[in-house]
Amino acid sequence: MKKIYIKTYGCQMNVYDSERMYELMKPHGYKISETYEDSDLIILNTCHIREKAAEKIYSELGRIAPHKRNSSKKGKQLNIVVAGCVAQAEGKEIVKRQPLVDVVVGPQTYHRLPEILNRLSNKSRKIIDTDFPIENKFDELKKIRMNKNPAAFLSIQEGCDKFCSFCVVPYTRGSEYSRPVLDIISEAKNLIQQGAKEICLLGQNVNAYHGKYRNKTLSLDELIMEVANLSGVERIRYMTSHPVDMTDGLIAAHGKVDKLMPYLHLPVQSGDNNVLKSMNRKYSAENYLKIIDKLKNVREDMAFSSDFIVGFPGETEQAFKNTLKLVDEVKYCQAYSFKYSRRPGTPGSILQGQVAEEIKIERLAELQIILNEQQLSFNKTFVGKEFDILLERRGKMDDQLVGKSPYMQAVHILTKDSKIGDIVKAHILNADKNSLTGSLYN
Ligand code: 5AD
Ligand code: SF4
Repeated sequence: MKKIYIKTYGCQMNVYDSERMYELMKPHGYKISETYEDSDLIILNTCHIREKAAEKIYSELGRIAPHKRNSSKKGKQLNIVVAGCVAQAEGKEIVKRQPLVDVVVGPQTYHRLPEILNRLSNKSRKIIDTDFPIENKFDELKKIRMNKNPAAFLSIQEGCDKFCSFCVVPYTRGSEYSRPVLDIISEAKNLIQQGAKEICLLGQNVNAYHGKYRNKTLSLDELIMEVANLSGVERIRYMTSHPVDMTDGLIAAHGKVDKLMPYLHLPVQSGDNNVLKSMNRKYSAENYLKIIDKLKNVREDMAFSSDFIVGFPGETEQAFKNTLKLVDEVKYCQAYSFKYSRRPGTPGSILQGQVAEEIKIERLAELQIILNEQQLSFNKTFVGKEFDILLERRGKMDDQLVGKSPYMQAVHILTKDSKIGDIVKAHILNADKNSLTGSLYN
């Protein structure tokens, strides 16, 4: 048995891709290793979204390099693969900066990994494969899909044509592609057969989904109905959505499809209309709030999370205040917030009015205090109440299992009678910012 160490950075799409890479390598005699020290193959599945994310990869490679040199001295072959969006964006630059890297493989070509590693036997050669190939990655991947988790990810759409002015995704992941409906349904059936109860439909721009179905094209809400009809699926989620693609049909689905969970990640980025315009987001704060209202009208317990960027070029003190005002109106259950990071090649990087680092730091801290308070008070509203949780993994304590609420909160319970994969009714005893504690008994 050979060992493979995979480190995943960034978004859920990368989590999905990392799982697939392991499945690709497993038939070639690889077993997962928790550390790189005892592995024969190291894959860093990278994220390029912010500058720091890319720099982290080079530091990690710096830590791994001496280990590779030692392995070579002992006559052991250790291969290092850089995959994901840094691989796509930087290509052979990676090998120039860190010559001990053997393979650079992009998000559209990682299905070729077994064959690429085979070719590596000629030790002096590096292999860079960051094409956007003709053959369909998903056709290759569907032959090997395995899943042990009761909550599974299913990638239905990739790439993005939105070109937000801060974002590298349209360049690294390419233009939008929606998988055909029947492929998705067959992958969903396979996941259910293996025990999945929850399916999270993934895409960089998931609600722009428009997949082929016989001689028609289905939108995301229509696809959700198809998935909801599969017996064995108990919960459906989707992410990440763009506000302009929140169609009335999709909003209505939240009122009609019980299996669709009452939680939506809907990044707003900023609450200021001038900033939104220069971010090329194509909606106003008012449009966004209207969508939130419509969703609450069809399902009153809808909970929302978001991404925020502070310190985008041209963000004045007043513009930042407008973001705080929007946050106060929506009351998020959870959120991610970032300082604007200048990405070469994106329109935002050359805009006038870049904001000083100290101001970005201050604004981020101020925003995060409020978002954290909102998350805590959201969680506290459930103390004394009951809801269904899907048990997903073991906790740190004996007899402790950790599950997920309909609203994506982690819930810890002590139980001897339940098992991973069960959906149980939990009575919530306690709440803090990051998780809830529940009991199966009143
Ligand atoms: N700087 C800071 N944050 C960014 N994001 C994307 N690009 C940048 C950038 N250049 C954030 C956005 C997006 C999330 C995935 O990452 O908020 O929604
Ligand atoms: Fe990036 Fe905007 Fe596309 Fe999201 S919608 S991936 S933020 S360009």
